[in-house]
Amino acid sequence: MNFLSDNIVGASVPVLEALMRANDGAMPAYGGDDITRRIKARFAEVFEREVAVFLVTTGTAANALALSSIVPPYGLCMCHKEAHVIDDECGAPEFFMHGAKLAGLPGVGSKLTATAVSAYLEGLPKAIKQMPPKALTISQVTESGLVYGLDEIAALSAVCKAHGLSFHMDGARFANALVTLGCTPAEMTWKRGVDILSFGATKNGCLMAEAIVVFNPTLAEGLDYRCKRAGQVISKGRLIAAQLEGYFANDHWYDNARHANRLAKLLGDGLSQLPGVRLGWPVEANEVFPILPAALNRALKEQGVLYHPWTDGSLPANERVGEGEALVRFVVSFATREEDIRRVLDIARSASARQAAE
Ligand SMILES: Cc1ncc(COP(=O)(O)O)c(C=O)c1O
Repeated sequence: MNFLSDNIVGASVPVLEALMRANDGAMPAYGGDDITRRIKARFAEVFEREVAVFLVTTGTAANALALSSIVPPYGLCMCHKEAHVIDDECGAPEFFMHGAKLAGLPGVGSKLTATAVSAYLEGLPKAIKQMPPKALTISQVTESGLVYGLDEIAALSAVCKAHGLSFHMDGARFANALVTLGCTPAEMTWKRGVDILSFGATKNGCLMAEAIVVFNPTLAEGLDYRCKRAGQVISKGRLIAAQLEGYFANDHWYDNARHANRLAKLLGDGLSQLPGVRLGWPVEANEVFPILPAALNRALKEQGVLYHPWTDGSLPANERVGEGEALVRFVVSFATREEDIRRVLDIARSASARQAAE
């Protein structure tokens, strides 16, 4: 039973079927094909407005290229201190921003607040020796599995507007956040002031398909060339576009995300009922972060349940991981089966009962 991430499974069947349909015959390369044209129009429908769309193959590429288009080489881009862009992309954003820096700010649940960002900006020295702030990036879902509410996004966007900053959203788990909020893609992004989005689809069913979606047209200028320089103008681009066609068709992406979120809730509810177990953060999307007693952690591992240890750096102030306890992360995907969740819970319940009896 593998809960290491939502990218440890393959692609979902409708995505693979769409790929097979797109496989036959010859079509223009490098995105000049009809499927790519269709998917760009589909993004405009999904977001209820004209958008510039650049298809790429990884979330790291989407983030690094999106940020490079909004931050000049001398600029500063704020993010949470545990954000994927600063912690897990091997410096790709800074590499593609050609010298610009990421500034990691603290915040409970890996979330930034408008108050914290404002205070940070007010405290920055405004001298030629200091890099000027140019952008803010947030992860939706956050690295602690939380979902920014629409008001929180709007408040961060207001701070960006007041300081002349661009606003980027890393939507690696975009659909999981969307179904939690029950809003439209437009409401979660440009209607709340997001300028540019890394639209993730790989974790939620695609084989390898992500998109940079640009709402502010001036930011799209030259992004096609940036993508090409990064090796992200795919010669068989139709096969990236086809994955997204399968992903969007019949609301498949919503179904996948709803399934993963529902099972994550089931897992979180079940684990948190066990003696000595509590959740580091509430389950708001498809990730569960229990704090486990040492013996339970050991028992789960012995039974072959796979998950990652996690950092306690943005736990709430009144929470801490005690001696011998472990904060860990379970990620549930579109392909996780309900029986897998029930099995893990059975293992955990029996281990807890055994330990209570000893
Ligand atoms: C928050 C976040 N952003 C972006 C990514 C995308 O990374 P990758 O380059 O592995 O597709 C991930 C994947 O783990 C992620 O969790």
